[in-house]
Amino acid sequence: MQQSRLQPQSLGLSPRPDAVFELAGHEQTQALGHALGLSLKVGDFLGLVGGLGAGKTTLVQGLVGALDEKAEATSPSYALVNLYELEPPVLHMDLYRLEGVDDLESTGYWDYVDAGDRIMCVEWLDRIPQAWPGAGLLIELSVATEGRRASVWASPGYAGLVEQLQERFAAASL
Ligand SMILES: Nc1ncnc2c1ncn2[C@@H]1O[C@H](COP(=O)(O)OP(=O)(O)OP(=O)(O)O)[C@@H](O)[C@H]1O
Ligand SMILES: [Mg+2]
Repeated sequence: MQQSRLQPQSLGLSPRPDAVFELAGHEQTQALGHALGLSLKVGDFLGLVGGLGAGKTTLVQGLVGALDEKAEATSPSYALVNLYELEPPVLHMDLYRLEGVDDLESTGYWDYVDAGDRIMCVEWLDRIPQAWPGAGLLIELSVATEGRRASVWASPGYAGLVEQLQERFAAASL
């Protein structure tokens, strides 16, 4: 699996992650997504990086499922943008097939960012780092000996959110 070449420092984040979660299996990736769904607020941004099959969509499935257990997130690899009209609404996007920053305009990406009326989840942020809106969470999923590892970086305003995430994930793992 190829590793992300996105340097968190290039987004104004610290070199080391603010939190690391060990995800032994699919269910734990979903559990971290569930904790994210309960912790993120409308207008919050979540950038996801990691190689093919790292678990980015699985994480968003958990997030969307936390807001409505009947909602099923599917991969936006082909649709590019999936919208879930939940409370709060969620945008799930995949930059994998976009060529560059000009394509962001044509998908209406900046209109969604400016509106700030959804949780935004963006897979393959490393393809177009300019899509980073200046604040948010960055999660890198990587293959670990057992399952996956999620490394989380938070911009300054998101530190409290990381604490909530740790508490909720720990509670779910009991
Ligand atoms: N913690 C985990 N341990 C083992 N397998 C996992 C874990 N989390 C997710 N998976 C599995 O990894 C596979 C790929 O997951 P997923 O589609 O979410 O990856 P992705 O990063 O979105 O891939 P893509 O790059 O194609 O968008 C799925 O079969 C999923 O069940
Ligand atoms: Mg995916």
